[in-house]
Amino acid sequence: MLEIKDINVFYGAIQALTNVSIDVKQGEIVAIIGSNGAGKSTLLRTISGMLRPRTGSISFKGKNIVSTAPHEIVKAGISHSPEGRRIFTNMSVHENLQLGAYIRKDAEIHKDMEAVLDRFPRLRERFKQNSGTMSGGEQQMLAIGRALMSRPELLLLDEPSLGLAPNLVTEIFNIVLDLNKEGRTILIVEQNANRALEIAHRAYVLETGNIVLTDTGKALLSNPKVKEAYLGG
Ligand SMILES: Nc1ncnc2c1ncn2[C@@H]1O[C@H](COP(=O)(O)OP(=O)(O)O)[C@@H](O)[C@H]1O
Ligand SMILES: [Mg+2]
Repeated sequence: MLEIKDINVFYGAIQALTNVSIDVKQGEIVAIIGSNGAGKSTLLRTISGMLRPRTGSISFKGKNIVSTAPHEIVKAGISHSPEGRRIFTNMSVHENLQLGAYIRKDAEIHKDMEAVLDRFPRLRERFKQNSGTMSGGEQQMLAIGRALMSRPELLLLDEPSLGLAPNLVTEIFNIVLDLNKEGRTILIVEQNANRALEIAHRAYVLETGNIVLTDTGKALLSNPKVKEAYLGG
């Protein structure tokens, strides 16, 4: 579904990704794990068209999207729930969800919003509430709900569990599993390597802009190097 080959991404003179190649097959949960500053968010921003690789290729469903505009990438079926949620805190839950559907003009937006509100009952309770007054967990649910409003085939999730209490972390990972069971393909980036590897079919380890290891989630969970560096020994 998604095939990234040898991308090199820079911020000015600083190289953030070096010859990164990953692929994501339809129906998979693929995780990218790595420390703070490894380049995980940069990778997702490059896939969604906010950054351009200097060299290398990115294809989605067989089509090269390296020079496709971000809104066209959303239309093609990729939606990005960014790090730090980036919801519009001066707007209501309803308005944030509507913004998630900004590329659409079809008649089923209302139906999809109902589906998001069924999935996240807390968002229904707070539908008219200013989203900036909600808890971190609720804001994360809104960020995922907003990403779902464009009907993505591939969902990019950047650190969905960051800063959440353990019970909410479990809730978020269960939602990710449900979304996948319903047929969505997921590329998830996490510092919480343990949880991410538990749910991922396959994963990649990113270190200072380089992919250093890839295997099934299960195999990486018991890999001694991964254990030592990312799973607390
Ligand atoms: N807007 C930016 N300008 C310059 N450097 C950046 C910018 N964003 C990230 N970087 C640098 O790129 C590298 C990768 O960052 P990032 O992708 O945010 O890592 P991660 O998400 O894995 O924590 C880091 O060295 C970071 O300092
Ligand atoms: Mg990041």
